[in-house]
Amino acid sequence: MSGKLIATPHIGGMNKHNCNKFSKSKSGLKEVRSYIWLDLIFVNLNKNEIDFEKYIKPLNDRWKKFWSLKDRDLIVYSKDYGYFNLNAKCNWKFAIENYCESYHLPWVHPGLNSYSKIDDHYHIQGLPNRFAGQGTVVYNPRFKSNLKFPSFPNWPKDQEQIAEYVALFPNVMLGIHKDHFYAYWLEPVNNEYTKEHMEIYYVGNEAANSKKFKSLRKQNFELWKGVQFEDLNIIEGMQDGRKSPSYNGGNFSPAMDNPTHHFHKWVANNIMK
Ligand SMILES: [Fe+2]
Repeated sequence: MSGKLIATPHIGGMNKHNCNKFSKSKSGLKEVRSYIWLDLIFVNLNKNEIDFEKYIKPLNDRWKKFWSLKDRDLIVYSKDYGYFNLNAKCNWKFAIENYCESYHLPWVHPGLNSYSKIDDHYHIQGLPNRFAGQGTVVYNPRFKSNLKFPSFPNWPKDQEQIAEYVALFPNVMLGIHKDHFYAYWLEPVNNEYTKEHMEIYYVGNEAANSKKFKSLRKQNFELWKGVQFEDLNIIEGMQDGRKSPSYNGGNFSPAMDNPTHHFHKWVANNIMK
């Protein structure tokens, strides 16, 4: 099926965006399946996947208890402290493996582990739903301020301290909290180099972009950048470790690595499809 070009900038000469000698519908553009969900654009180039609505339904259903579909429309991207990029000298899959488990928390993230303790983590997993990770209790206060970000209106009052972090197959890592949401997505540049992109959203434009919350946004930005930076060393070490002649394929902890093992199954199943 061919697609129709939406825009043809300057095609008729500078500042002439249309041309009667060019038909937007006969450009040979190939239509690809795409879907926008939580401000992320998902693309399935080779049409080998189920409809995205079905793909995402299990995660949508899981998160309905925290934020209703209507509440999700409240997310606003922060233009000042909404984005950072880290470069990892490793395969993108190591970043996902790492995100799926909390095993490394006390040693790699001692600061984070002081208010989001390993003992409070629970696994999130389940085939064939291609998301897995961790839920946890986040003890407050995380920030040096009496000011608090506004929360999602229907987030349950008795679960205000719950946060969930899941990797959504293939290359997106998500985090939801009562007062912010992030998507940490991976750009695999080659088999041993990955660009990591963090996008942070808040509840409403005031929280996301006003001066009033700027200091709080800065603290949250620095918190997440610090945590993600701490992971670089170990995921790059995992890449180096694969080169060892004594590497045996690795071992999983039957108690701690279950969500990571799910990710391995998704990769294996997709490679063997
Ligand atoms: Fe980590």
